[in-house]
Amino acid sequence: MAKDWNPASWRSKAIEQVPLYPDPNALAETEKRLATFPPLVFAGEARKLKRALGEVAEGRAFLLQGGDCAESFAEHGADNIRDFFRAFLQMAVVLTFAASSPVVKVGRIAGQFAKPRSSGSETKNGVTLPSYRGDIINGIEFEEASRIPNPERQEMAYRQSAATLNLLRAFAQGGYANLDNVHQWMLGFVSGSPQAERYGELADRISETMAFMRAIGIDSETHPSLRETDFFTSHEALLLGYEQALTRVDSTSGEWYATSGHMIWIGDRTRQIDNAHVEYCRGIRNPLGLKCGPSLAPDDLLRLIDILNPQNEAGRLTLIGRFGHEKVGDHLPALIRAVEREGRKVVWSCDPMHGNTITVNDYKTRPFDRILKEVETFFEVHRAEGTHAGGIHVEMTGKDVTECTGGGARPVLAEDLSDRYHTHCDPRLNADQALELSFLVAERIKKEHETRAPKSVVNF
Ligand code: TRP
Ligand code: MN
Repeated sequence: MAKDWNPASWRSKAIEQVPLYPDPNALAETEKRLATFPPLVFAGEARKLKRALGEVAEGRAFLLQGGDCAESFAEHGADNIRDFFRAFLQMAVVLTFAASSPVVKVGRIAGQFAKPRSSGSETKNGVTLPSYRGDIINGIEFEEASRIPNPERQEMAYRQSAATLNLLRAFAQGGYANLDNVHQWMLGFVSGSPQAERYGELADRISETMAFMRAIGIDSETHPSLRETDFFTSHEALLLGYEQALTRVDSTSGEWYATSGHMIWIGDRTRQIDNAHVEYCRGIRNPLGLKCGPSLAPDDLLRLIDILNPQNEAGRLTLIGRFGHEKVGDHLPALIRAVEREGRKVVWSCDPMHGNTITVNDYKTRPFDRILKEVETFFEVHRAEGTHAGGIHVEMTGKDVTECTGGGARPVLAEDLSDRYHTHCDPRLNADQALELSFLVAERIKKEHETRAPKSVVNF
């Protein structure tokens, strides 16, 4: 167990990004209540994800992590979750089949509610109010009543996470994710697009493969892995009072786990070595993510790795680079070399979203070609360094939104942004763009397989 650590030890450290609750007693009451609620996920599941990520760290699998920038209370319909899950399954199946690579599936979902902000307040027409920090903290409407942090929202976020997770578990294990359904995952609005055609061809080949396997006695009745998939949840561990309330001892191992989600990550804004977020995360046994931006020096990264993964466990730590398309080539190689030189086992993942945000017509957007460029450079750098480009981390939705510009044969134009700009925070890939990205990534992984030593087959 981590030395001098307990679920509350972060409270004596410096901390960034803390909301100002007007009534500390009400906050304490909420946290006390949350601490009596059932865990959302189980330690055994977190360990299973860690093992799967260990395969990624060893170069034998690929991590697909994605979902909303911020989940919202307003958009909590079954359709929303289903559309996201389908788009995600499509991406996963493209990567698995086209790249012949096992895919570890992790959603930014069922707990992704808290947002770090560059400024604590926002001023509009001479009125200054606290910034929106995610639905778990305050409301997005620019009104005083909604912007004041309200602890009751933490219970709402907990309950929404539980309901979302329940549906996701049913989808993943209850038949929806059956490979016999590959054709049905196609979303209506995407049909007719070049991506849809490409996906249709791939789905035909999978169906053919399934028919062949059925003929030789292997089918989804007899082989659960054909009809089920392991889908894990993740979010940024930003609101530490909430995280602490859901931190529990696992009875089988006696160790502490965050039970708010399977994997949690530390943001680029809260990764100061001596501060609260690193302190909290070092003591729990879940797989962790660490967002790495351009300001992270190689030596600081090594120090963070020492703290977060002292036993050098493969799968414990995923480094999620978010440099921007122009900077990734300058910053990533030095980090990789430092980590390789010290023999540290990590998963290298690429977040091509957060370093590529610009403002067009007053909308925060991300040009799709820059997103692709960052992913391509990520693969090129790893190829040059001889390391495994282990995964991608994207903000995406299953809906036909117009938030990121560009993409394929039906690009979103700057003047289209206002059409269906629904995000509560950052711009997300729509289903068509997400699919296009996954085809590109599948090609890159295939290329990596051709140049790196063959790996043994794994199953999970
Ligand atoms: N169980 C395998 C896996 O998760 C195969 C599989 C079943 C699958 N349903 C899937 C793969 C949906 C991708 C998408 O990899
Ligand atoms: Mn975001």
